[in-house]
Amino acid sequence: MKSIVIYKSISGFTQKYAQWIAQDLNADLFAISELKGKSLIDYDTIIFGGSLHAVGINGIDVIKSQLIRLKNKKVIVFAVGASPFSPAVFTEVLNKNFSQEQQADIRFFYFRGGFDYSKLDFKNKVLMTLLKWKIMSSKKKTAEEEGMLAAYSKPFDEVKRENLKELLAYAKCID
Ligand SMILES: Cc1cc2nc3c(=O)[nH]c(=O)nc-3n(C[C@H](O)[C@H](O)[C@H](O)COP(=O)(O)O)c2cc1C
Repeated sequence: MKSIVIYKSISGFTQKYAQWIAQDLNADLFAISELKGKSLIDYDTIIFGGSLHAVGINGIDVIKSQLIRLKNKKVIVFAVGASPFSPAVFTEVLNKNFSQEQQADIRFFYFRGGFDYSKLDFKNKVLMTLLKWKIMSSKKKTAEEEGMLAAYSKPFDEVKRENLKELLAYAKCID
């Protein structure tokens, strides 16, 4: 069984999960930017991970554009966000990024990442500064918004290898 793990990560949280998955499955590992010329058809299991930006999964079009060609393959997608896992977050991210038809062709996972403003590129620093101003200007902040504000000055990292148990079990099972 040949497996590939592809990821898009801005500050390294998704990359860490992708590296662990590739190690555990003995899979080929590529950042999305290194994928040119690689054919996904050569693999039995294709795993894609991307971080969340405004509920969208970074880089997900690479997989979505090929789903029809990958019909008989095992396709796994994981998203990594700053929000803690909850069924509501899981469903929101799944429905925002995949049609019902596409959902039938993939297995989706959500993992908590972290946040480190200092590791963002310039574009994302600007976006997150705008978000910070927006949160600061709102009178009634949710607990999640308060947590997000705190994270600008105090980075956090919730990436844990044990979060991958279910994904790895699914990737390894032969159906
Ligand atoms: C512009 C921007 C938008 C974001 N939007 C979300 C979001 O909608 N939901 C969420 O949980 N995290 C959001 N985040 C946080 C990242 O998804 C989180 O920090 C993630 O762990 C980053 O992983 P990476 O280092 O692999 O890119 C956002 C971050 C940025 C920079």
